[in-house]
Amino acid sequence: MADLPKHIAIIMDGNGRWAEAQGLPRIEGHRRGVDSVRMVSEMASELGIEAITLYCLSSENWKRPQPELDFLMHLLEQYLVEERRLIMEQGLRLKVIGRRDRLPESVITEMDKTLQMSAENQGTALVLAIDYGGRDEITKVVRELAREVADGKLAEEKIDEELVSSRLYTAGLPEVDLMIRTGGDFRVSNFLLWQLSYAELWVTESCWPDFKRELFLSAIDDYATRQRRFGGLSVNQ
Ligand code: IPE
Ligand code: IPE
Ligand code: MG
Repeated sequence: MADLPKHIAIIMDGNGRWAEAQGLPRIEGHRRGVDSVRMVSEMASELGIEAITLYCLSSENWKRPQPELDFLMHLLEQYLVEERRLIMEQGLRLKVIGRRDRLPESVITEMDKTLQMSAENQGTALVLAIDYGGRDEITKVVRELAREVADGKLAEEKIDEELVSSRLYTAGLPEVDLMIRTGGDFRVSNFLLWQLSYAELWVTESCWPDFKRELFLSAIDDYATRQRRFGGLSVNQ
């Protein structure tokens, strides 16, 4: 397929609204959302997309009621165990971005198992953003670089965009070409603030559990029609 995005990032929003619309508790929306996660990982792998980054939990989502957070942690752990086989079959390479220190031990254990097991896989990078915040990520890099300058290990003039990029969680991944948001809101909600600089944005009213193959394909088709100028006057410049 022409003009296939190398890296797709997705804000998987609208689980709660989906559930409420069916008269179900919010957590049922999260549960159903796992099917969409499976679908996009499978399709990304089939299409040969290099990386797909999924926003699973933001650094602000800790404001939610404890029972919902407990359920999300349970679901995450279950996902890491139950999807392991499919991840391996599809040759996906799992990567997790975000803070680890606020996650339950049981989630970390299963995460590390899947990370280790899939580390040598050559297929699509399946990047899960868990307890991730764009501002938090950039602040961490600033602090790290400031420390190195203070210790005399790094000259201030050496700090450029390339160096900053190489210290972000996403180091080594291609630039985000396409960012999809389900649930209809036109905002980035602290997702990949640095990395989205020139990403094409695509928003659908459909909630995450209703995000099906056809919708994913229309986002990818639509991307192919976009004229990306990167600040220049034409794509060829
Ligand atoms: C997205 O769905 C999943 C997470 C943020 C964990 P929401 O739970 O935000 O669903 P809505 O936006 O309230 O419908
Ligand atoms: C963004 O959704 C975070 C995830 C999908 C994990 P939110 O539901 O937290 O975003 P806001 O609060 O509507 O901006
Ligand atoms: Mg939401």
